[in-house]
Amino acid sequence: ALLHNELAGDEVLVVSNREPYIHVKTPEGVEVRRPASGLVTAVEAVMRACSGTWIAHGAGNADRDVVDAHGRVPVPPGHSSYTLRRVWLSKEEEQGYYYGFANEGMWPLCHIAHVRPIFRSSDWEQYVAVNRRFADAVVAEARTEDPVVLVQDYHFALLPRMVRERLPRATIITFWHIPWPNSESFGICPWRAEILEGMLGSTILGFHTPLHRRNFMDTVDRYLETRIEEEASTISYGGKLTQVQSYPISIAWPEAEAQTDSVPACRAAIRRELGLAPDHLLGIGVDRLDYTKGILERFQAVERMLERYPEMVGRFTFVQIAAPSRSSLDEYQNFEARVRSLVQRINVRFGSGGYLPIVLKAEHHEHEAVNRYYRAAEVCMVTSLHDGMNLVAKEFIAARDDERGALVLSQFTGAAMELHAALIINPYHIEQGAEALYRGLMMPAAEQAERMRSMRMLVRDFNVYRWAGRMLHDAARLRQRERVMSKI
Ligand code: G6P
Repeated sequence: ALLHNELAGDEVLVVSNREPYIHVKTPEGVEVRRPASGLVTAVEAVMRACSGTWIAHGAGNADRDVVDAHGRVPVPPGHSSYTLRRVWLSKEEEQGYYYGFANEGMWPLCHIAHVRPIFRSSDWEQYVAVNRRFADAVVAEARTEDPVVLVQDYHFALLPRMVRERLPRATIITFWHIPWPNSESFGICPWRAEILEGMLGSTILGFHTPLHRRNFMDTVDRYLETRIEEEASTISYGGKLTQVQSYPISIAWPEAEAQTDSVPACRAAIRRELGLAPDHLLGIGVDRLDYTKGILERFQAVERMLERYPEMVGRFTFVQIAAPSRSSLDEYQNFEARVRSLVQRINVRFGSGGYLPIVLKAEHHEHEAVNRYYRAAEVCMVTSLHDGMNLVAKEFIAARDDERGALVLSQFTGAAMELHAALIINPYHIEQGAEALYRGLMMPAAEQAERMRSMRMLVRDFNVYRWAGRMLHDAARLRQRERVMSKI
């Protein structure tokens, strides 16, 4: 209802690189996968509620088989409520724009994980060209001259201006799902001015936290000639007004009946599958296999915990679900190799008989499968070295309708700004991680319930519809202000 009021019948177009559904060929036929992406998790819930068109890169090997002549397919499969419009990229485009500029350049530029960004002119050229191709797709899909265009993430920094030039009356809401660094760090990007100018084609520019909003304002102030109004949090550039705000992203709160298996059933089944005793203690981690997620530090914390509390050896297992990601890049291949060798070292050191302290499941899991692990575990560990929000933390909380379980959460996630009842740690401090894990495992039921209850209330109230609703509301207000200003 919140969204419908804000939208008042407007046409909605979403642009993201990652598509919400991927069609892949398997020996059993075409299978539909939901990708591991916080962005997709959040935006998909919004699109289901308001319909419209979602423009994204068609990445699956059966994606072309299921679309109409215009690249469109109704989704979600089975109960369609909006349209997915796929854009096909050539190998060169994908390499330069996605792997190169977005993931070897912008991703390490914006995350403090001490991986050096790589900037190549050839990648930049593809990034510009692909942003233009998606802007063309927006214009082609738009049925009205003033649609609401929701632009997602660091893959499309140039697109807001490109769309603005061709649809001047559009409401363009750009959300940056990853952190924004301080101005000095951002300054190493050779195309910093172009990126900022592109983004300032937006009506609204959203970040997860006030800190990242602040960093962005400082960056603009340093590298562009603009007029910044601190109080209103607006930037005026080339006669266009952009409001810059923080909007913490969230999830759709699950319906009560969405949890199919009871917590005791999940606990028993997962332990059976892993060959563990019914009272065996379980920790869970769920991430893409990405160097920003603090997976090595997490395993080191597990190791230190077993060292300090030898009674936990043989009694505790940590299950890591790690979805393969961007795996053709050197940095990701090296990272995977380091993760695997650390797991092996710890398992050799503390494992015996059939017992493995760490179980690494480095493959894609659908949400339902992940949810069973959330419900089966004593502790969930989110130890990102840097993360815009991190929706795994919120999903874990949503999964625990039994009000049990403990969340260990890195202070360098956006989620830590909201989830004060988690066990907040600095992931670089291995002893702290080890102690928090142990404390989570030993936490009295009453304390678990108290912490869970307060976090569950927060995530339920500040859900993803609120996130989208606030942006739409601010956009409407800003457009009103622009109309008034243009008359005087
Ligand atoms: C992060 C980014 C998203 C991206 C996701 C998965 O959450 O902010 O834009 O979709 O990672 O990464 P991938 O490269 O597989 O889409």
